[in-house]
Amino acid sequence: MWGGRFAEGPSAVMREINASIPFDKRLWRHDIAGSKAHVAMLAQQGIVSATDAEAITRGLDAVAADYEARGVPEDLALEDIHMVTEKTLAEKIGPAAGRLHTARSRNDQVATDFKLWTRDAIDELDAGLSALQDTLLARAEEHAASVMPGFTHLQSAQPVTLGHHLMAYYEMIARDRGRLADARRRLNECPLGAAALAGTGFAIDREATAAALGFDRPTRNSLDSVSDRDFALEYLTAVTQASLHLSRLAEEFVIWASQPFGFVALSDQWSTGSSIMPQKRNPDAAELVRGHAGRIAGCCTALMMTMKGLPLAYSKDMQDDKPPVFEAHDLIALAVAAMTGMVESARFRADRMRALAEAGFATATDLADWLVREAGLPFREAHHVTGRVVAEAEKRGVALDGLTLEQLRAVDERIDARVFDVLSVDASVASRTSFGGTAPERVREAVSTARKNRGERA
Ligand code: ARG
Repeated sequence: MWGGRFAEGPSAVMREINASIPFDKRLWRHDIAGSKAHVAMLAQQGIVSATDAEAITRGLDAVAADYEARGVPEDLALEDIHMVTEKTLAEKIGPAAGRLHTARSRNDQVATDFKLWTRDAIDELDAGLSALQDTLLARAEEHAASVMPGFTHLQSAQPVTLGHHLMAYYEMIARDRGRLADARRRLNECPLGAAALAGTGFAIDREATAAALGFDRPTRNSLDSVSDRDFALEYLTAVTQASLHLSRLAEEFVIWASQPFGFVALSDQWSTGSSIMPQKRNPDAAELVRGHAGRIAGCCTALMMTMKGLPLAYSKDMQDDKPPVFEAHDLIALAVAAMTGMVESARFRADRMRALAEAGFATATDLADWLVREAGLPFREAHHVTGRVVAEAEKRGVALDGLTLEQLRAVDERIDARVFDVLSVDASVASRTSFGGTAPERVREAVSTARKNRGERA
């Protein structure tokens, strides 16, 4: 493509280090779309003839059909998807192909392709996250009143409901989707027409190409247009944050599926056996989702390091932007699908969750609150009295509501029979009616509000 200036071809190693076709062939659909928009604009502006533009457009469709049928040829000598496509086009339509690259550079071309790809990636991931939210809503509604131990420090803290716990993940994913929507909005400006770095002297119409490619407007500065990769980084940071959330949900499944917990039985479809221990049912998919989060964060770091300290405008380092973005995208797509499948098919053991909630003295705070409310103790003193009640129950090997009134009054005689109204786990969760609290009525309300908001947005 630049043979005019060179007497010799590149060395084999130069060729190999320089080539991006092994990975950027994945941009082919977007590359063809960008070229079609570009050539239509060139014809509209009278920069190429209508005949040439028509030949180029038809030729690009034929190239696309070839790629669809046989894949993109990986010719390292041609470096990247842009040159492979231009060469394939020339084989089909002859010298007119050489007019396509008028008023354009691979620098604005690749920025445009990659933005188009990332925009699709965002939409794809958003759809996956939305489906996961649907699943969480369904399971949360089903288990709005299923009591489980709520933890802090992974120690039984206060009873909550499983529905409330699942809705916490719904909220995290809502924020992840918000971040993706933000990134999409900022990304949606078209770099095409910035050319190599300085713009072009041809009378191009950047509004036209931007509109044809579904961008809101053209980018405003040509130097920034060809050197901006924040759009890819914003996508990666949003993906990383989402993957951190998924890894936490995955970790819950790993813990819940363990025998000492037994909160969930993974379906056959979402567990694996052991080649040596016949009793095993391993939560491999959850473990891999947990693991993938580390790899995804690595991809995000990789692109940050690539971009750090690069002067304006384009530098070849930036060709390394694509592999980490593609890798993170593929990993998160699998992770979202896996967690959706696991949540959907999990058999939650509500009986077991309730038994552990009852065993962990999880209503101790309710007793302390009762002492404050009904017996007028200062909270600090109520906390102390409750600690002694817990010690008494522990000594006798019973739950808090397993102590008799006499035993309770032996600790503090201000306790009376009404206390039993708050000592059960059901009474505890039912009392947590503050906005955002775990009371089953609040959880049902949260589910229906979420459904309503989703309906309105759709
Ligand atoms: N393959 C290159 C990339 O992905 C395309 C841009 C090449 N531009 C250049 N001036 N060599 O970044």
